[in-house]
Amino acid sequence: MNKTGTSDLKYLFNPRSIAVIGASRTPGKIGHDLLKNIVEYGFKGEIYPINPVADEILGYKAYPSIKHVPGEVDVAIIVVPVDKVTSVARECGEKGVKFLVVITSGFGEVGNVEAEEELLKIAREYNMRILGPNIFGYTYTPVRLNATFGPRDVLEGPIAFISQSGALGIALMGWTIMEEIGLSAIVSVGNMIDLDVVDISKYLAEDLNTRVITIYLEGLKPNTGFKFIEEMKKVTKKKPVIVIKAGRTTKGMVAVASHTGSLAGTDHLYNAAFKQAGIIRAYTIEEMFDYARLFATQSIPRGDRTLIITNGGGVGVIATDVAEETNVPLLSPSSDLISKLRETMPWFGSPKNPVDLTGQAGVDNYVKALKIAFESKEVDNIVLLYCRTAILDPRDLAKAVAELYNDYRDTGKPIVAGFVGGLDVREAISILNRSGIPAYPSPERAVSSLSKLLEYRSYLLKNK
Ligand code: COA
Repeated sequence: MNKTGTSDLKYLFNPRSIAVIGASRTPGKIGHDLLKNIVEYGFKGEIYPINPVADEILGYKAYPSIKHVPGEVDVAIIVVPVDKVTSVARECGEKGVKFLVVITSGFGEVGNVEAEEELLKIAREYNMRILGPNIFGYTYTPVRLNATFGPRDVLEGPIAFISQSGALGIALMGWTIMEEIGLSAIVSVGNMIDLDVVDISKYLAEDLNTRVITIYLEGLKPNTGFKFIEEMKKVTKKKPVIVIKAGRTTKGMVAVASHTGSLAGTDHLYNAAFKQAGIIRAYTIEEMFDYARLFATQSIPRGDRTLIITNGGGVGVIATDVAEETNVPLLSPSSDLISKLRETMPWFGSPKNPVDLTGQAGVDNYVKALKIAFESKEVDNIVLLYCRTAILDPRDLAKAVAELYNDYRDTGKPIVAGFVGGLDVREAISILNRSGIPAYPSPERAVSSLSKLLEYRSYLLKNK
């Protein structure tokens, strides 16, 4: 069942009706493909294509203008060229539309500030809010709304993604499908003349379908840094926020200025702001979604003592290095725990941390060791590592771990997996991810992701 948020953006994310102004008859045009996504992704509310010359588009009755629509309209998606935007926006205001989602480019990002100011003035006059302009649209999967001209079959899940870049946002929509990452919302914010990253984050912080917020940020508008920190502090108290900030280098900053017209600012200022606001910073797209995958499924642990369980000494050592470098404290097991763990491995294994079940380990060894780790009061977090061996099919291991996890999920003890090997390992990773265990193809990515959960935990403890 869909659960809704309570803030004033409720009807943006849960519209009862949507008009697409500039819905085109021609496949391949943005106004056509966006309407097609709304229809085919399965939106259940009213859909009104607006086109001055068409009677019907994609099976829906078309109206020559928004004024001719019989019912109320919560959201109008605007896909007409820039010189027509203000006149259709005024008509929307007269109609009582609540939100304008302006796809059209050719505003502030190319110096056309007057058009932006005029649009904002109309919105204020009629009490409408604006998303955009210069955006690829937005998606809210719990109500099967895909009002973008990006890929259609976005997977449902608890990760929200806000993007200041259009093309990258669209590309990442496709990437999340490929990587089986489930999303609650995708919001393109573009020039942010009204609704900005903070407004959307605040709404999603209250949204019961969202567990973690990811943001691709290029920069903030001038003089909004203080507001950003103060407001995002409130957001991170409720939900983890992961930001990938572009424009880190001098040349990158120049590129940002010409892209969305935002101030990239000095990178160390952003770093300080993120730290103060409790925002987790990612440096690559891969990192952002790695961390999000973990936050989407795992709870904040009771403590930070971490146990590594592996069948390969090498990956255990790599994981140990990364743990030390990223402030993940490795548990020194008590003699009692050591003797219990010793029972799970051949005599030449190691019950210390990393717990090395050896290359001879089968499903049974892993299951026994994992049970002990889940039940031990000494262990707060578990890192499960596996290297492909001929004697243990990774898919069998993944299935057994997923089944075992059903009995321990409610303990809230975080577990993260790093499986290394070939194609069948990829399948195993997929099995684990589907069962709610964040899994990665390397020990480094598993431990780094866990380190972000611990970083967030310590921020929350310090900022109660
Ligand atoms: N009300 C409703 N529909 C109208 C209209 C009006 N006042 N005036 C024109 N239209 C219709 C057109 O007839 C056309 O439909 P048709 O193809 O069936 O004839 C449709 O709206 C689109 O108008 P058109 O003039 O063909 O524009 P376009 O499709 O070439 O371009 C944009 C419109 C918005 C896509 C384009 O101006 C633009 O901004 N593109 C960039 C978008 C972008 O990249 N955004 C950022 C992403 S990150």
